[in-house]
Amino acid sequence: MEKIIIEGSRRLEGEVTVSGAKNAVLPLMAACILTEGKNTITNVPDLADVRTMVKLLEILGAEVEFENSTLSIDSTNLDTWEAPYDLVKTMRASVLVLGPLTARFGRSRVSLPGGCAIGERPIDQHLKGLSILGAKIEIEEGYVDTIAKKLRGGVIPFDVSTVTGTENLILSSVLAEGETVILNAACEPEVTDLANFLIEMGADIQGAGTDIITIQGVKKLTPIKEYEVMPDRIEAGTFLIASVLTKGNILVKNCRFENMGALIGKLIEAGAEVTRENGGIRIKGNGEIKSVDFTTLPYPGFPTDMQAQMMTLMSVADGLSIITETIFPQRFLHAGELRRMGADIKLVGNSAVVRGVPSLSGAPTMASDLRASASLVLAGLAGNGKTQVSRLYHLDRGYERLDRKLENLGARIWREKE
Ligand code: EPZ
Repeated sequence: MEKIIIEGSRRLEGEVTVSGAKNAVLPLMAACILTEGKNTITNVPDLADVRTMVKLLEILGAEVEFENSTLSIDSTNLDTWEAPYDLVKTMRASVLVLGPLTARFGRSRVSLPGGCAIGERPIDQHLKGLSILGAKIEIEEGYVDTIAKKLRGGVIPFDVSTVTGTENLILSSVLAEGETVILNAACEPEVTDLANFLIEMGADIQGAGTDIITIQGVKKLTPIKEYEVMPDRIEAGTFLIASVLTKGNILVKNCRFENMGALIGKLIEAGAEVTRENGGIRIKGNGEIKSVDFTTLPYPGFPTDMQAQMMTLMSVADGLSIITETIFPQRFLHAGELRRMGADIKLVGNSAVVRGVPSLSGAPTMASDLRASASLVLAGLAGNGKTQVSRLYHLDRGYERLDRKLENLGARIWREKE
């Protein structure tokens, strides 16, 4: 295993280019199950989760090539519908093959994703939607089996806004008979990216990006010659915070201002100077960091995937900040590690009360999940002295060489064997 070492208190400046979005490319890869032939996807980040999904598609019988940020997926010879436990347990997003396999083969067998560090991760809404489309659902020995001679359109009222739930049901309904309407659909930009991908394949989808999505089933979908994944708004947000934290001046290139309103709003409230600049965002920290309160919400609210990183910034702000987590109420494992660096954080129910301290002190820390590991790297940038972040496999699931990108911005950061 590897760990990252950071020597803190260095100002970051320069330019960084954001990679393609992990949470967009994973559903696009699952969508390739729906069509025979070769699909090409560009701007694909080289991440552990992408490589896990490649492995899963190969187990299902697809031919996959992945190099220079380009994925080609030929699912002509898909010959099985079972997603094995040892793969699904490492990546919850494997559940995204449930819908497409059912749509293509009339059945699927996918291991139930376990819980994870950020909380219990049920898929009841995914299964509710599939049964409304006519699938028979059986759960046995930790697997969910779906059987459906032909999926038929229907009205799916989600009880909660679920990103992969919405994506799974779009994937299930594009080849179903008739019309499907998803109510209380997730509005995240990654859902829209999936809809755009499927529309290019010939699907009929209206309303992606809003809470009501209407799909007219079509007979067949055709493979896509080339599709570029949208930029990763969470990676972009992590760099925005790194700049404010280190009183830096960074141009974050290839990121969509319009996808990041809630975070940008809070960073401006905290005192950052944010401007649009040739297709990216320039952000300057001027030294003073004001405390702000925020609550995580479904898009376009403040993203839960930015909560841990923002907590690091609030740890060295000039007052009291109340952070409320409504998506994954237990998503606070990073608080304990930040405390070890001198942060003053009290957890009260699904809120964290953060009293800013003048500075954090470097310490050996341990990552617990993907975004927590990013928050600890950020804390190391701001901390006095040396910080270690171990269990880097968490970080490498969702960030394409974050350490190298930070080093190019002036950070003293390197990897070592644990
Ligand atoms: C997606 O997870 C993202 N992952 C997560 O990013 C992100 O944190 C999350 O959306 C929220 O934005 C991918 O896109 C691969 P949900 P997902 O279903 O779809 C409850 C990261 O760091 N729920 O939107 O699994 C659930 O418990 C990861 O990149 C049900 O109750 O999240 C949660 O409270 C972490 N029943 C809420 O809905 C269901 O059937 C939102 O979960 C499904 C979800």
